[in-house]
Amino acid sequence: MKIIHISAECYPIAKVGGLADVVGALPKYQNSLKSDSSVVMPFYNYKFTQTNTFDEVYRGQLQLGFQSQEYRILSLSKNELGYELFCVDIPYLLHTSHVYSDNDTYRFMAFQIAALDWILQFKNKPEIVHCHDHHSGLIPFMMAHCYKYEDLRGIPTIFTIHNGQYQGWFGHDKIPLLPAFDSNNFGLLDWNGMINPMAAAIKCAWKVTTVSPSYLEELMYEANGLESLLRQERHKSIGILNGIDSEVWNPNKDSYIEKNFTLRSVKNGKAANKKYLCDTFNLDINKPLFTFIGRLVEEKAADLLPSVFREVLSSGKVNVLILGSGSDHVEGQLNSLKSHFSGLYNAYIGYNEKLAHTIYAGADFLLMPSRIEPCGLNQMYALRYGTVPVVHRVGGLQDTVLDIGDGGFGICHDQVSVSSIVHAISRAYDFYNEEKSFAENRKTIMQIDHSWDKSAKTYIDLYKYIK
Ligand code: GLC
Repeated sequence: MKIIHISAECYPIAKVGGLADVVGALPKYQNSLKSDSSVVMPFYNYKFTQTNTFDEVYRGQLQLGFQSQEYRILSLSKNELGYELFCVDIPYLLHTSHVYSDNDTYRFMAFQIAALDWILQFKNKPEIVHCHDHHSGLIPFMMAHCYKYEDLRGIPTIFTIHNGQYQGWFGHDKIPLLPAFDSNNFGLLDWNGMINPMAAAIKCAWKVTTVSPSYLEELMYEANGLESLLRQERHKSIGILNGIDSEVWNPNKDSYIEKNFTLRSVKNGKAANKKYLCDTFNLDINKPLFTFIGRLVEEKAADLLPSVFREVLSSGKVNVLILGSGSDHVEGQLNSLKSHFSGLYNAYIGYNEKLAHTIYAGADFLLMPSRIEPCGLNQMYALRYGTVPVVHRVGGLQDTVLDIGDGGFGICHDQVSVSSIVHAISRAYDFYNEEKSFAENRKTIMQIDHSWDKSAKTYIDLYKYIK
């Protein structure tokens, strides 16, 4: 089956968050199930695009309103990704050193139109077009209703919601940028007086998926304004839990970490990685190491972290190491804690893939107090590296972490507040001190299978069902 994934991010080419990890792994696993999945994304100016060779496979003329612009489709030459990679090259809009910016309406509209124009002239058309998040959300509408794409009308479209908070709204004045369509269908683009690419995709895609079953249920009540729409389209929606790329995330083969380990060598392996972290970040090896990795934004409850850390670090019993970036305010507060709790606390503000891997390998606990978590991949990476997740019971976190009090292996809390996170940390601390069961638990969690095998097949079954 010929499947095209369309996305703004794809690991290892350009990553901002979990979207990249999913789009970088799912096609590979689908191809191992004998499908022909490829990825189409923008050609950004990133290290990957600078250091790899691409071949031009198509050159076209893009019409964006009255503006006409040449664009190219580039294909990665020496490709070891496990799927074909195509990039839409529109230098003045997309050849940037960031994925997202203030000008995203134009950028992603151009990207989507160019991608569809290219697909339109295929002799051998795809059997499925799978769009991810609002950056490709206009595609299901355009395929169904723009005159120009009439030949693509019979191809089923799937839209996956990785994060319903971001919807890509823009004003009606930009409608003329889209290829012509019957104005009776205008309502499919509109939501509350704005053009809303995520809403348009939910209305027009043949199937809508969310990245965990619990998140789909939550969206019925909390979807940043789209609740009633999601309820209305519930019949064509399904929650499919993300997997992780267990080749990239394998503590026994991971070239980023200080010392590789297996189930049998987990004790020494984690100790060596923890020692590296403690030496590098001036932490105390004899105390449990809690970490937070991710975007420092409200959605992830990062705004509560400074108060949480102030409280737990005052006890002098735990270490904390942060890796992430986001709100200036939170970054500032997290930086300022360094001098107060030197020897027990440190923060690396920024993005660092190697350090992230080493932290999963060396930490004892990973904190994910997210207010909203559509799936969350970090808790699954943590499990695979023997690090116990401490999570808010929400979205995908709820679908993947079971509390030790319920016969499970992690720590869960029901509220997102400083006191409930502090309480969860203190439960984690007690658990750490039950040395024998803590050590056994490490082995249990490392064996939980969150690889893509199962979910990649669920997607394929879904494609087959709608075809
Ligand atoms: C988004 C969500 C995250 C999810 C990821 C991949 O980043 O916030 O929860 O794991 O997409 O689907």
